[in-house]
Amino acid sequence: MKQRIGADKRMERARILDTYAEHVSRGKVKFYARYGFTLVPERREGVYLYDADGRRFLNMHCNGGVFNLGHRNPQVIEAVRRGLDSYDIGNHHLTSGPKALLAEKLAACLPGDLKHVVFGVSGGEAVDVAIKLARAVTGRSGIISAQGGYHGHTGLALATGDERFRAPFGPPPPGFSQVPFDDVPALEGAVGPATAAVILETIPATLGVRIPAPDYFRQVRRLCDERGSLLIADEVQTGLGRTGKLWAVEHFGVVPDILVTGKGLSGGIYPITATAVNRRVYRFIEKNPFIHVSTFGGSDLGCLAALEVLRITTDPGFLAEVNRKAARMRAGLDAIQRECGVPPIPPTAGGGASPPGLGGQGSVFLEVRQLGLFIGLRFVDAAFTLVLSKALFDNGLYAIYSANDKRVLQWLPSLTISDAEMDEALAILGRALAQTRSRLKYRALRFVARRLGKEPV
Ligand SMILES: Cc1ncc(COP(=O)(O)O)c(C=O)c1O
Repeated sequence: MKQRIGADKRMERARILDTYAEHVSRGKVKFYARYGFTLVPERREGVYLYDADGRRFLNMHCNGGVFNLGHRNPQVIEAVRRGLDSYDIGNHHLTSGPKALLAEKLAACLPGDLKHVVFGVSGGEAVDVAIKLARAVTGRSGIISAQGGYHGHTGLALATGDERFRAPFGPPPPGFSQVPFDDVPALEGAVGPATAAVILETIPATLGVRIPAPDYFRQVRRLCDERGSLLIADEVQTGLGRTGKLWAVEHFGVVPDILVTGKGLSGGIYPITATAVNRRVYRFIEKNPFIHVSTFGGSDLGCLAALEVLRITTDPGFLAEVNRKAARMRAGLDAIQRECGVPPIPPTAGGGASPPGLGGQGSVFLEVRQLGLFIGLRFVDAAFTLVLSKALFDNGLYAIYSANDKRVLQWLPSLTISDAEMDEALAILGRALAQTRSRLKYRALRFVARRLGKEPV
């Protein structure tokens, strides 16, 4: 896999890492070096990333959907290139043709009465906007989110999430509380007269691609309606065709009051996000047109990228292809899972206990969680999944585990992946699993497992 590269290329890569360590984050460079997981993406094309040292990686993480249409999708690039002939980012104080066109297109393809849009730059910003609007419209301050969910690291989005990312920054803003995901009684007990909104990822990726019970969102919708709260669906990862429908909420038969989209909307080329709202919420924006301003939010060039993304993903046949690929991927994963019964592992040298997850009979590959091409692979324990992701990396495939359920490997191919590329991913998974299961490989890498807890999101 490793191609021969010139000394100057190697030096250039080393210089990038040194400079990054000096001026951006030494901790990040050290972290990846310790795990033998250093990837310095240089060339990118389709489903592949190429490290600065020439090594090729099949990207099965896709940055949570940013690269839904592959890296450097030529159609999105062409749309932005053409746009550069006459546009720049635009002026957020003024009106704009690309913004109008994109909002119209989004309104046409969003479910129900989500016909109005506030544009942003990041998913976190779009979530902040959603929370601000929910509070303004209801006159309440309570925001309920799911334990282990993730909505971003900006102000209000951060307040919905994990304590460990909030703690260094002083007391949390008031009004935020969390309940377990997919737990209707817990929500029954939590939603009250002060609740402005319940915010949920339709399928929380960080929580291990947890697919809720078929009726969960209908119950959440009912509770919100009964108690005068809004429902915010965070579709930053699950939207734009990832689950085999354009929006994942469509699988669950509900229309939220606010829907947040990001990541893939940019085509991975020019950042843009959107907070889509219904008529009730829009009335507040109508009366307060400058209530949320964002210099780069909904930049004209971002709108052109997003218009092309939507043209591609709403093309008749696109979702049918996603679903065909999802079924094909499932068959391949099921076959690997069937082969994945693990032989007993002898005790480690010195008579210690077998490494976690590798001893005993039975499969280490416990579950395929899947809706369309939104896939999580659950293995026997976190250590196994961590070592597996390293083995995948060594075999030229980039995939990472869910930060809040490390047993689960996120398996998110580009939606444009070809059958041959899918076969390649499956073959690498089979190989990496075999290596992970071998005691030798495990012992070589077990130090990694001890460092669990020091990982990024
Ligand atoms: C579900 C979800 N919501 C919101 C965000 C925040 O998006 P951003 O990183 O663009 O701020 C993310 C990012 O990973 C996400 O996965």
